[in-house]
Amino acid sequence: DRRRLAERIRDSIRTVPDFPRPGIAFLDLCPVFSQPDLLAALAGAMSDAFSGAFDRVLAVEARGFVVGTAVARHAGRPLVLARKSGKLPGPVESVRYDLEYGSAELQIQRDALRPGERVIVVDDVLATGGTMAAAGELVRRSGAAVAGCAVVVTIPGLGGERRLGAEKVFSVLPTG
Ligand code: PRP
Repeated sequence: DRRRLAERIRDSIRTVPDFPRPGIAFLDLCPVFSQPDLLAALAGAMSDAFSGAFDRVLAVEARGFVVGTAVARHAGRPLVLARKSGKLPGPVESVRYDLEYGSAELQIQRDALRPGERVIVVDDVLATGGTMAAAGELVRRSGAAVAGCAVVVTIPGLGGERRLGAEKVFSVLPTG
């Protein structure tokens, strides 16, 4: 069940202090990804959170690719990649955004989403919400709609959920 899944994921995440910079507590999800049954259960929970009511899965580079691929595979929906600048052949849509550390630009291919499609955006971590907001903007520019956002972990106190405002956010951790 949901509680057991959250416990297993909490127990599997490794927190690395001062990585990649002093003052940043990095969440290492590799031990989650290395357990096939846990990754499959995670994908199932994310898909169920939106009752499978989505047409495509948009996965955010890089760790979001792992989770997003698992969700798309589980739900039998096409996978779309949101990549950092310069990685996708054009034409592309671009949105620049601020990160918890630094700034970046996210892109999708212009023909990757169709107008009217319902898209869930999948990533590993929600911190300030800058990345998720940028991904949502890319979805809307394509004429598609954000059906929801799914993350493994939300870091409390950084305003991510507030920033996403109207978007429905599903996060496995922390649990209420
Ligand atoms: C991390 C994480 C999210 C983002 C969350 O990405 O994977 O995408 O930060 O932060 P935010 O809510 O403040 O925007 P990062 O760019 O470190 O990269 P990676 O997944 O490519 O390792």
